[in-house]
Amino acid sequence: MKFRDKVVFVAGGTSGINLGIAESFLAEGARVVVLSRNQDKVDAAVAGLTSEGGEAMGFAADVRDFDALSASMAATAARWGAIDVLISGAAGNFVAPAAELSANAFKTVIDIDLLGCFNVMRAAHEYLRKPGASVINITAPQSWLPTPMQIHACAAKAGIDQVTRTAAMEWGGAGIRVNAIAPGPIEDTEGMRRLAPTAAAEKAWKESVPLGRYGTRNEIARVAQWLCCDEAAYITGVVLPVDGGWSLGGSSAMTMALSAR
Ligand code: HXC
Ligand code: NAP
Repeated sequence: MKFRDKVVFVAGGTSGINLGIAESFLAEGARVVVLSRNQDKVDAAVAGLTSEGGEAMGFAADVRDFDALSASMAATAARWGAIDVLISGAAGNFVAPAAELSANAFKTVIDIDLLGCFNVMRAAHEYLRKPGASVINITAPQSWLPTPMQIHACAAKAGIDQVTRTAAMEWGGAGIRVNAIAPGPIEDTEGMRRLAPTAAAEKAWKESVPLGRYGTRNEIARVAQWLCCDEAAYITGVVLPVDGGWSLGGSSAMTMALSAR
C-alpha cells in the first residue's frame, strides 16, 4: 500500500495504458480520479476500479475544455484534498500521410495531446500538493523520432516533452516534480490497434523491438509508480522511454513497422 490515501488524478484514464496506471495506483491504496469525454467509458472505468473495493470517481470532460477540467480538479480537491499524482495521458491518433491530412485533422491532434496536456497541468496546478506532487505526462518515442504518417502525433508529443521540461524548471521550487513516460508499443491498446491493425503489421512491430515483444500496461504502470516514489525524489524534467529498446532502432524501425500495415 505504497500510495495509501494519496490522491491520483488520471486525465484520459478510462481505457488502455492510462486506465492501467489508474488501476495500479488504486491497488496500492490511492484514491483515484479518471477523466475522459465519454460518460459511459467513465462509468465503466469507475465501476471496474471500485469492483473490489477502493475509492474512485470519474468526470466526463474534454481536455480541450479548460473550464470543465478546472471544475473537475476543484471537485476532486474539495472531496479528497490536494492532488498528489497527476497523470496527463489523453490522446488521439490515426495513421495518415501529411499530404492528405487536413488542417483541422492536424489541429485536432495538437489540441487533444499538446494543448490538452497543458490544460490538464495548468488546471491542476492550484490543487497540486506543494511540496510533494508528481506530474507524469504520457508522450511517445515519436516525440524525438520523425515518423512518416504520424506528423500530427510527432509534433504534439514533441511539444509535450518541452512542456514537461519547462514546467519541471518552473515548478521545481514549489516541490513539484514533472516527468514524462514514452511507452513503446503496448499490447491490448487502442493505439496499437490503430497503428498495427493486421497480424502482419503486429509481427513487424514486434520484430522492430529489441526485446521482441509488445510491452504490457503493467510495465508502464510500474514505472509510473516508481517515478512518484521517494526512490525517484531527485528526478524531474525527464522523458523516460519504456519501450523494450524500440526507439534505439530510430525512425527506420518505425517506418518499416508502419509500412507493414
Ligand atoms: C485522416 C482524420 C482521421 C483519419 C479523423 N480525421 N480521423 N483524418 N485520417 N483516420 C480528421 C477528420 O476528418 C477531421 O478533419 C478531424 O480529423 C477531426 O475529426 P473528428 O472526428 O471531428 O475529431 P474528434 O471527434 O475530436 O476525435 C478525435 C480523433 C479520434 C483523434 C479523430 O480518432 C479520437 O477521438 N481518438 C481517441 C482515441 C485514440 O485515438 N486513441 C489512440 C491514442 S494512441 P476535417 O478536416 O474533416 O474536419 C496514441 C499512440 C501514440 O496516441 C504513439 C504510439 C506508438
Ligand atoms: P486509449 O485507450 O485510446 O486512451 C486514450 C484515453 O484518452 C481514453 O481514456 C480516451 O477516452 C481519452 N481521451 C481521448 N481524447 C480525449 C479528450 N479530448 N479529452 C479527454 N479525454 C480524451 O489509448 P492508449 O493506446 O492506451 O494510449 C494512452 C496514452 O499512451 C496516449 O497518451 C498515447 O499517446 C500513449 N501511447 C500509447 C502507446 C501504445 O502502444 N498504445 C504508445 C506510446 C504512447 P474518451 O474516448 O472517453 O475521451
